[in-house]
Amino acid sequence: MAEFQLPANSKISGKGKAYPAPAGAKRPRTFKIYRWSPDDGQNPRYDSYTIDLAECGPMILDALIKIKSELDPTLTFRRSCREGICGSCAMNIDGSNTLACTMAIEDVKGDITITPLPHMEVVKDLVPDLTHFYAQYASIKPWLQTVTPEPALKERIQSPEDREKLDGLYECILCACCSTSCPSYWWNSDRFLGPAILLQAYRWLADSRDEYTGERLDALEDPFRLYRCHTIMNCANVCPKGLNPAKSIAEIKKMMVARAV
Ligand code: SF4
Ligand code: SF4
Ligand code: FES
Repeated sequence: MAEFQLPANSKISGKGKAYPAPAGAKRPRTFKIYRWSPDDGQNPRYDSYTIDLAECGPMILDALIKIKSELDPTLTFRRSCREGICGSCAMNIDGSNTLACTMAIEDVKGDITITPLPHMEVVKDLVPDLTHFYAQYASIKPWLQTVTPEPALKERIQSPEDREKLDGLYECILCACCSTSCPSYWWNSDRFLGPAILLQAYRWLADSRDEYTGERLDALEDPFRLYRCHTIMNCANVCPKGLNPAKSIAEIKKMMVARAV
């Protein structure tokens, strides 16, 4: 695994605040959380919150919600579904990118360090700026493109075998854990699409109903957009949905070779 990098605008230089364990805590545990706000004039810092796990749900997201509701309402993070579907609670926990809602507290030993996804600009605290990531997603035209007329029943039928080819692709929740753990994406995110977006690009290339394969490959045929992947495999190691973006990238490269011969 490549060395963990803090977010792009996050040199830790401020003095953090420590919230001590509540009196009589049965299972105290400390969370060291990255803090930075554009509004308070303070430098990036870690604040430490010690909570009683006997009074908390089992997941990292439960602890964050408890800290926000009981100790510090200014702590900012994204979350929605609470069950690994929306992708919004992606962050770096104990040195690895993952989802706070599906990561159990008991799976981390000692104090738990939490930072935003690495190498992204920070909006506030644990919230990274995903504007560029979503623009890259839009650039691959993530929708079905066809030239043949719409069928009479308006449904484009797929065989079970063709549908199966989308397994391992459609489950992607666009959490960005993979892209923000990819060293090639850290250094070239202005031009390299990164593992998440390339997995999504392959999802449409692999769809038997899509009729824009040539155009999609043309759009990826570029020294940076596709070819900055060096098979480091961080992406597959961190994906909280167990997907393998590196394999999708390899499949796209195979399609490029196949159409060239
Ligand atoms: S491939 Fe996995 S890690 Fe990457 S965005 Fe999709 S779900 Fe998240
Ligand atoms: S396999 Fe490719 S996309 Fe995945 S982390 Fe490595 S360089 Fe990045
Ligand atoms: S809150 Fe939706 S994935 Fe974690």
